[in-house]
Amino acid sequence: MIVARERNEEFMAEDRQTEIRGAFDAAAADFTALGRHLWGPIATRAVAVADPKPGERVLDACCGTGASAIPAAELVGPNGHVDAVDMSGPMVDGLRRLSDLPQLHTHHADVTTWQAESYDVVQSALGIFFFPDMTAGTDHLISLARPGGRVVFTIWRGESMVAAGRHLGLAIAEVTNTPVPAPRPEHLIDRINQADTYAEWLTERGLADVDVTVHEMTLTMTPEVAWLVIVGSGFRGALTKVPADAVEAVRTTYLTSLRDAGLTELDATTLIGTGRRVA
Ligand SMILES: C[S@@+](CC[C@H](N)C(=O)[O-])C[C@H]1O[C@@H](n2cnc3c(N)ncnc32)[C@H](O)[C@@H]1O
Repeated sequence: MIVARERNEEFMAEDRQTEIRGAFDAAAADFTALGRHLWGPIATRAVAVADPKPGERVLDACCGTGASAIPAAELVGPNGHVDAVDMSGPMVDGLRRLSDLPQLHTHHADVTTWQAESYDVVQSALGIFFFPDMTAGTDHLISLARPGGRVVFTIWRGESMVAAGRHLGLAIAEVTNTPVPAPRPEHLIDRINQADTYAEWLTERGLADVDVTVHEMTLTMTPEVAWLVIVGSGFRGALTKVPADAVEAVRTTYLTSLRDAGLTELDATTLIGTGRRVA
């Protein structure tokens, strides 16, 4: 029985990986457009906290189209080295189009099995909660830092971004005449998405000097930005189940739903968790 359940969980984890990869493969083109409003400001703050120095070796895990990998590569300079790793091919291709800095090395791979070591900095902006096993994946990233090296993992705080997904779910249900999706099963991230609980979890990872910076941010939901939030992020995955000729109706229903709820600002606050690898 236990073996069967573990097998089942393994398959579910694989399905989830495939789903996440599919969502970001589809979102890649719009992801860069949303970057100016969302990924860029978040990553700029995270890189400022990571503070890569000239000549350092950096791993940027779940790099997307490079919102944090590119500024890190600029900071480490020509004598430094940044490995930027993402499991979505179209995202990595997008990054390759945006930067040709020789110190920035792009890789299409699952970073939870990435094998390299002795990074001065291991950073991941809005990536670690996608790992099938968030704790094991994060522990793996920490193991890639050199002893004394810095790790910087950014996650959403609390209900950040959630309202957009809720209104999208309502719009899809209305347009496709299907039930409103059930809330997703509870995930570790739901228990550690506040500064104090996140700091505790990072400390349990064996890190020293743990600190969490709160980066308060709101997105002004003009119709253009509100739709980019869907098509240029992981929410895009929900649209893959919508027939192509119904997507425009979903867009207008979603925008109406936001307007009726008076949602003009979307919370996009992040928690930037830092620590140092002990031996
Ligand atoms: C929300 S995006 C963030 C991208 C980028 N760090 C940024 O801040 O703009 C999350 C990214 O994590 C990537 N990702 C999720 N799980 C991954 C894994 N196991 N290995 C590599 N990349 C992964 C997705 O493909 C996606 O590009």
